[in-house]
Amino acid sequence: MKALVLAGGTGTRLRPITHSSAKQLVPIANRPVLFHVLQDVADADIKEVGVVVGGTADQIRAAVEDDDSVNLDITYIPQEEPLGLAHAVLLARDFLGDDDFVMYLGDNYLRGGITDLVAEFRRDRPTAQLLLARADDPGDFGVAELDASGRVVGLEEKPAAPKGDHVVVGVYLFTPAVHEAVRAISPSWRGELEITHAVQWLIDRGADVRSTTHSGYWKDTGNVAALLDANRVALESVEPLVAGDVDPATELVGRVRIAEGAVVRGSRIVGPVAVGAGTVITGCRVGPYTAIAERCHIEDSTIEFSIVLPGSSITGVSRIEASLIGRHVEVTPADPAQAPAPAAHRLVLGDHCKVQISS
Ligand code: DAU
Repeated sequence: MKALVLAGGTGTRLRPITHSSAKQLVPIANRPVLFHVLQDVADADIKEVGVVVGGTADQIRAAVEDDDSVNLDITYIPQEEPLGLAHAVLLARDFLGDDDFVMYLGDNYLRGGITDLVAEFRRDRPTAQLLLARADDPGDFGVAELDASGRVVGLEEKPAAPKGDHVVVGVYLFTPAVHEAVRAISPSWRGELEITHAVQWLIDRGADVRSTTHSGYWKDTGNVAALLDANRVALESVEPLVAGDVDPATELVGRVRIAEGAVVRGSRIVGPVAVGAGTVITGCRVGPYTAIAERCHIEDSTIEFSIVLPGSSITGVSRIEASLIGRHVEVTPADPAQAPAPAAHRLVLGDHCKVQISS
């Protein structure tokens, strides 16, 4: 069995971050979403992985090659334009050969992994198997219609009037029968070859398409609110560790992970919080639910429920919350005489921004 991980696409809902970097590389709990996906694949005992890459191919390759936490045999499959999930399967035809495979979207974050799902598929081997979840906002996803035994009898992509609340999670299991289906379908109204249409094509021909409903946590991390929420959940299970240099004037409360090479002085860190290597925090209040990546500089500031990407600095800002701050960003106070200080700042900042705020 092989895996096909999708790490192309455009990431429009995460602009401005995705103007300069791949959405699958935005870290949750200081680890790119994509690495959580690759870890799940490795845990399911799958070694051969095709990674579909688009305009951010070089970044994805560099990040994966730089990381030795997962040991996989990876083949990169270039996709010049994001023409759809089924288009990615078309492109991967040679890599996939006649093997069964799991297709895993590189921006999905799933608690509990895919090991049980893969084992179930290997045992029963239906034509295809979809992972589903119940959602309050089904119209934002693929929506599945099920019969009483859990077989999928209909699928629609982001319907205006959903026929239920079972939505398609970004993990799909296929036998090689899917290759004929992806060749047979035409682009949708959004110009993409939809994998939901390919699966519908199989259903229309009487194929056995089954479903498993995921009861644990799942997020498509395609927008800021979803990313912050996935970060919150991922932080809840990081292993507490103080490998960095923390002075006695600092108070650490709850689940806190300070990486080796980080320095914390005169601060109160309320977990769950992760602090990356080479980051210096002085005179701050950080957390809960906050991940500060590597090589950041945070001074005389308060930040909670946020993600800060590598190399950024925040100085003298009284309260930041629910924020996603890109790489190499500088946030500093403006002249306090010029504007009244708000209760909190909410920021979504792309890489290399410079912001002055009334603090
Ligand atoms: O997250 C689950 C949802 O994913 C499903 O419920 C939908 O049925 C499915 O169509 C998909 O919807 P999205 O609109 O969220 O897909 P998105 O365009 O965000 O692409 C998902 C991942 O696949 C993302 O990591 C980018 C990558 N991708 C996407 C396209 C369209 C590619 O690698 N190539 C592509 O051509």
